[in-house]
Amino acid sequence: MKNILVTGAAGFIGSAFVRYMVEKYPQYNFIAYDKLTYAGNIDNLLPVSDEENYRFERGDIAERGAVRRTLQTHQIDTVVNFAAESHVDRSILAPDEFVMTNTVGVHILLDECRLHGIGRFVQVSTDEVYGDIETGFSVESDPFAPNSPYAASKAGGELIVRAYHITHGMDVVVTRGSNTFGPYQYPEKILPFFVTEAIDDNLLPLYGDGTQVRDWLYVEDHVTGIETALFKGKSGEAYNVAGENQQRNIDITHRILKQLGKPETLIKHVPDREGHDRRYAMNCDKLRALGWQRKYTFDDALEATVRWYQQNEWWWRKIKTGEYLEYYKRQYAARLAAAQE
Ligand code: NAD
Ligand code: DAU
Repeated sequence: MKNILVTGAAGFIGSAFVRYMVEKYPQYNFIAYDKLTYAGNIDNLLPVSDEENYRFERGDIAERGAVRRTLQTHQIDTVVNFAAESHVDRSILAPDEFVMTNTVGVHILLDECRLHGIGRFVQVSTDEVYGDIETGFSVESDPFAPNSPYAASKAGGELIVRAYHITHGMDVVVTRGSNTFGPYQYPEKILPFFVTEAIDDNLLPLYGDGTQVRDWLYVEDHVTGIETALFKGKSGEAYNVAGENQQRNIDITHRILKQLGKPETLIKHVPDREGHDRRYAMNCDKLRALGWQRKYTFDDALEATVRWYQQNEWWWRKIKTGEYLEYYKRQYAARLAAAQE
């Protein structure tokens, strides 16, 4: 392993992976590849921009020619694929791009990797492929039951990866992460969205009764989970990367407001997300058996994350303009109006 292509590297988790790996493994070259959609942000890679073992290339995983050129130019032998449309609400409003990138794009990237003859291919996937888990914990052998267009498109990508392993003998590993939080997360996901809105004293649109449960994982722990699967995962296997830390949305919201010293009157219960999964929860013994351990406690990581958004307005204020405001209007204007009637 020498030249590692990281696709979707300018997003939230991909950039955290690059920042961590570039520093830890100077003996490897990291080629960051990203289409720079609305969610891709080159600022996320600024901390490594001058490193000798790092390069950035703009490109689409669904574009064969561009993928092929990159694989050849950099003699890529390993791929870690983070590239995705990642926001559930957007997949309800506009699903086409989700299928294009998360399913078709994975297929094209993988097929070019097969033709090029790479070694390991890591597909970064999600706990959402298991669907709504009323009780208990999902294990890797559970059947898929995705409920949103986002989750279904990620499940589609995973199935293609599995087929290339079985049909073509490709060396593939899949990771399924739980809800991830930390610095540099696009402020459409609940945590950075609510923190940055609360800083500005705006209303926080909590879907439904707010008692839905997510399993929260700090981004740096997610990154080491993917690192473990990359180096130690068994070919053809999937590994859950869980926070083992279930929290209700309403409780997270209260904690954010408390840390920021803002009133609870900012919370506005609004009409629910369509097809909203009530709970995700995973068992991650399989990854632990490879030696992975989380390093961060939820309390410390949440506090540090809220502080990061307070101290890094330069990063998020320029995002919350243009397309972001159009999306905000489309997603929230009617909901907030309905809640205020
Ligand atoms: P993100 O939206 O912040 O980043 C996605 C990145 O992919 C962006 O930089 C975007 O420009 C890029 N991209 C999109 N389409 C592309 C294409 N066709 N070609 C090349 N690049 C493209 O997402 P994230 O939260 O960092 O998630 C990264 C991965 O982890 C995704 O595959 C997601 O499904 C998965 N995941 C996310 C979470 C979470 O809680 N955020 C949890 C589990 C799994
Ligand atoms: O579980 C892993 C998944 O977590 C990842 O695969 C996805 O890429 C990532 O977006 C995330 O999906 P969620 O739908 O769980 O995340 P989101 O931040 O959109 O929502 C978290 C919870 O908060 C969910 O129950 C919906 C609720 N919510 C969200 C938003 C944006 C609100 O109540 N109000 C909101 O405005």
